[in-house]
Amino acid sequence: MEILHDPAFTVVRVPEGPSGMAWLRAHVARFSEGEDHRRRRGLAVRLLEEIDPASLRRPGHPVAALASALGLPPTVSADVELAAAHYQPHDGTTPEADAAVARLVSACGGAWSEDTAARIGLLVQACAATRAYIAGAETPVPATRRVAPSGEEILVSLRDAPFGAGRHACPGEAHARAIADGATVFRRLHHADEPLLLPNAWDVASAAVLVQEGFAAVGTTSLGVAATHGKPDAAGATRRETLALARSLVELSVPISVDVEAGFGANPAELARELSAIGVAGVNLEDGRGTDLESVAVQCALISAFKAAAPELFVNARVDTDWLSVRTSETTMRARAYADAGADGVFVPGLRAPDEIENLVRTLGEVPLNLLAELPFDRLRDLGVRRVSTGSLLFRSALTQAARTAVAYRTGQAIPEAMSYDDVEGARLRSRR
Ligand code: HEM
Repeated sequence: MEILHDPAFTVVRVPEGPSGMAWLRAHVARFSEGEDHRRRRGLAVRLLEEIDPASLRRPGHPVAALASALGLPPTVSADVELAAAHYQPHDGTTPEADAAVARLVSACGGAWSEDTAARIGLLVQACAATRAYIAGAETPVPATRRVAPSGEEILVSLRDAPFGAGRHACPGEAHARAIADGATVFRRLHHADEPLLLPNAWDVASAAVLVQEGFAAVGTTSLGVAATHGKPDAAGATRRETLALARSLVELSVPISVDVEAGFGANPAELARELSAIGVAGVNLEDGRGTDLESVAVQCALISAFKAAAPELFVNARVDTDWLSVRTSETTMRARAYADAGADGVFVPGLRAPDEIENLVRTLGEVPLNLLAELPFDRLRDLGVRRVSTGSLLFRSALTQAARTAVAYRTGQAIPEAMSYDDVEGARLRSRR
């Protein structure tokens, strides 16, 4: 560890580069020494001083909120990932990584300057290490390289100093901890003393009212979203509407989980990255296709593709065996297969038999089981269920109440109680971050 404090041991020096990765490495603090290092580190530290770590405590891609705080669109996270994979000189570069750096420079205003390099450098430094930290690594950066006075390149273990030490020590530790905390809030809610009661909204107003009522997280109902737009549910027809709703819901102060049906027939990696960049905490991914089920292999591949593209996204794999009343003998096998494919939770709507629930909880072990609110909450908790969703119930109740109110007026009956105009407006204002 003394090596990191010893000026005779330098960081790996990199050659000047006019563009791409070579330019980035040649202009950031990470690969500089002496006066260049002091000046470049100063730029990074000043940028960080302007960002309150608490503002980064939100779900989604580890660099999306940081990008927004640095005045960049959260969607730059895909290019940051490409650059991060080739940041270290020993990783070389690729035309794709070089092109990603060029796009990042453009997003920063187009100047190939040290200021621009400092902004991109922060995002790139934040990317892989924070992801590893979120995934639970105790030493997200296991080792770093230094050049000895003899010219030999050596590896220095960071086991006792996960954020480094000496003049190159990480200046983003508080920010990293806040990002990781925000990214894991939703997951932690599945492992708390009480199961997570997740109500499902269909628009901003319904979600805002639920946040105001104190629910710790909000999901969406695909039936509610589809029906609101006059479209069929579970037909892959609402990708645009679902993403537009997700963009609005992430402004609320609680984690948001989005029902993406079976993935809308989209490229799963693209959809997962987009949701994560928006700041969504989780998704529901179902294996029902019309009146039957997708094959286990294809569904597992879909789940794995989501997790590989956006590991921070909580993927709740829905098993539609009981819901569609088909192949109910496969429920346990499918649940286990989806968990093995990387699902963070398993959802079996329609499962009500207590002995089957207990068996499934046992089979899943640490992977939380999610059921619909069809048995009393306490009963589900005692059976070991970790998440209880209301599904489309709230949406259907709202429609029932709306129709009842209109009919009551038409038939001269008493009008059922309703929220006031100010209540609705107040919920909108108070439910935001
Ligand atoms: C858990 C996540 C993170 C870990 C474990 C981590 C760890 C480290 C380590 C070990 C170094 C020193 C490397 C060396 O001495 O060779 C470093 C440098 C750096 N980190 Fe982090 N980091 C994390 C997240 C972040 C974040 C979120 C930011 C920005 C907000 C950031 C910005 C930087 C910068 C700019 C440097 C270069 C400093 C210099 O060379 O003077 N890091 N980080």
